[in-house]
Amino acid sequence: MPLKIIAMDFKNNIYNSYTLKYLLGEEQIPVPARRKWNNYIEIIGARENNLKNLNVRFPLNVMTVVTGVSGSGKSSLVGKILYPALKKYYGGSAEQTGKFDTLKGSMHLAHDIEFVDQNPIGRSTRSNPVTYIKAFDEIRQLFAGQQLAKQMNFPASFFSFNTPGGRCEECQGEGAVTVEMQFMADLTLECESCHGKRFKTDVLEVQYNGASIYDVLEMTVNQAIEFFSTTKGTIEKRIVKRLQPLQDVGVGYLKLGQSSSTLSGGESQRVKLASFLGNEKQNSTIFVFDEPTTGLHFHDIKTLLVALNALIYRGNTVIIIEHNPEIIKSADHVIDLGPEGGDQGGEIVFEGTPEKLINCKRSYTGQFLKAKLGTISR
Ligand SMILES: Nc1ncnc2c1ncn2[C@@H]1O[C@H](COP(=O)(O)OP(=O)(O)OP(=O)(O)O)[C@@H](O)[C@H]1O
Ligand SMILES: [Mg+2]
Ligand SMILES: [Zn+2]
Repeated sequence: MPLKIIAMDFKNNIYNSYTLKYLLGEEQIPVPARRKWNNYIEIIGARENNLKNLNVRFPLNVMTVVTGVSGSGKSSLVGKILYPALKKYYGGSAEQTGKFDTLKGSMHLAHDIEFVDQNPIGRSTRSNPVTYIKAFDEIRQLFAGQQLAKQMNFPASFFSFNTPGGRCEECQGEGAVTVEMQFMADLTLECESCHGKRFKTDVLEVQYNGASIYDVLEMTVNQAIEFFSTTKGTIEKRIVKRLQPLQDVGVGYLKLGQSSSTLSGGESQRVKLASFLGNEKQNSTIFVFDEPTTGLHFHDIKTLLVALNALIYRGNTVIIIEHNPEIIKSADHVIDLGPEGGDQGGEIVFEGTPEKLINCKRSYTGQFLKAKLGTISR
């Protein structure tokens, strides 16, 4: 390719990049109007680790961001006290609660608390994004309803790689076999029987709009949404509805059949968020996130904020531990801990809106936010 064309192509590409648009200020996250709140849950006498006997209010049905330098006490307050105390209050089980006196406020206005962490979504190599968000049941049903499947008497379970029947028994539906090697790391090889396709040949012959169950598992979420949207049947609509939240949280690029064990921490966290988003009955729940933007690109942060706002809109509460200025400026309420880490921290430096935070001279977060965003204007 002539150098000039390569240069032009490069220019086009970088011009189209989100990073550049962000740097040029063309792509921005607008400062939202702050939601008002009246109801809250208050922790009285928090003393875990370096916390200095704090009384802290967590407002309900808005987005609260807990900030502060490393070691200031954020995880001690949210992870060690708020989460386990409320989980037990709502009848669940959690690890031992850190030191504090009591809970006060409107606990009864919420039903549950969920910690949306970055741990893997499933331990088995067989679990994957579609099984987790429960779209796979309907996909199997769709295949079992095809003419050929009916002729052959294939039930929906034949299109599962978790149960014997339609799956390749040589690899038990994994598509690969692990060979234990003496003195060396185990070797993973493509299954010779199904050539990585995970199912028996006659099951793969059943097609829906030209795609086998294997082809569907190879599609990305984005591709699958398009594929199942072409026919307006009831099952297709249900499949698309189940897949949509994955696109909404920004992981539409994942393959339906990608093993959960290969997802990054941030991806696992967003798949969990998608499963909550897809559950319309999920309201009056308190969602806690510890640094959900870790490793996320600016554009993904924007997508994540839309998803978080959807949870709040539906009547849930969001509490986030974050350093990211885009998230902090989008908060309705900020709890800033500090002023320093360790023994010099554990105090509440500031509580209130981001507009007031940037005027708090004692708060590192406030000064950082001011420098980063100038004055927050609407
Ligand atoms: N299990 C523990 N035993 C003793 N001290 C602890 C323990 N866990 C945390 N600390 C101390 O308590 C203080 C607050 O820690 P915490 O983990 O709450 O900070 P953080 O604000 O979440 O920091 P980061 O942003 O780095 O996650 C720190 O000085 C830390 O060293
Ligand atoms: Mg922490
Ligand atoms: Zn096989």
